[in-house]
Amino acid sequence: MSNNQKPIINHPLSVIDGRRIKIKQAFSWVLNYYNPHKKIPEIIPRVLDSTCSEMIIWNNKDLDMFEVTTNDINPEIKADYNYCCSELHNYIEPESFDVIMYDPPYVDLKNRKDSEKYERVFNYKLMKNIKQLQKLTEDSALCFYKLLKKGGIIIAKITDFHYNTILRGSHDYVNWFSKYFYLFDKVVYRFYKSIPNLNFYNKRAAITHSYFMIFNKR
Ligand SMILES: C[S@@+](CC[C@H](N)C(=O)[O-])C[C@H]1O[C@@H](n2cnc3c(N)ncnc32)[C@H](O)[C@@H]1O
Repeated sequence: MSNNQKPIINHPLSVIDGRRIKIKQAFSWVLNYYNPHKKIPEIIPRVLDSTCSEMIIWNNKDLDMFEVTTNDINPEIKADYNYCCSELHNYIEPESFDVIMYDPPYVDLKNRKDSEKYERVFNYKLMKNIKQLQKLTEDSALCFYKLLKKGGIIIAKITDFHYNTILRGSHDYVNWFSKYFYLFDKVVYRFYKSIPNLNFYNKRAAITHSYFMIFNKR
């Protein structure tokens, strides 16, 4: 492969290699691969990014191929809406979307050492503890259920983390969404570098991956 040739993601795979593939490209692959209308190219799928921040995960080409509505609770983010993602059904018509992206806030871990930039972009001081994250996700599940069309999906980008000696993350989201959604598929994005402020790996494996979790409506 020459240097200016972009690496591509070949199917089938369940792990995407972060040394070769940027996370934007991985998300783009997931979005296009699980797009409920991919066999009908004339349909422009409607996507809600419910926690969009500065949309660093988005590839520009997908913004032309999908009709994207954005939301972030942070009023400093320029989005179509600045509401709590669990309340969007009060402002948007039911069954409006084919895909909802949920990249939930990180919990405020006491010994995080992120740069100010990430603190601002990810706004994680907002989420004080796991209970609050659970409530937000359970309430959002009902809201997303209402906003998704039949056959619509959630793509949740989840990173596990250690909290009070317990590993939290992907399995919790399966439970928190379970009243309205079931887990259909899971793609691992492998970073290779550990994320120091999400896991304290004395006696533990260092977390070096995130998941794209695909949920279907029940
Ligand atoms: C991990 S970041 C998302 C990053 C984003 N996917 C990107 O590509 O830049 C989580 C975002 O969720 C937002 N957020 C936190 N609580 C929220 C809520 N209740 N409703 C909507 N957005 C929320 C935060 O402001 C933050 O911007």
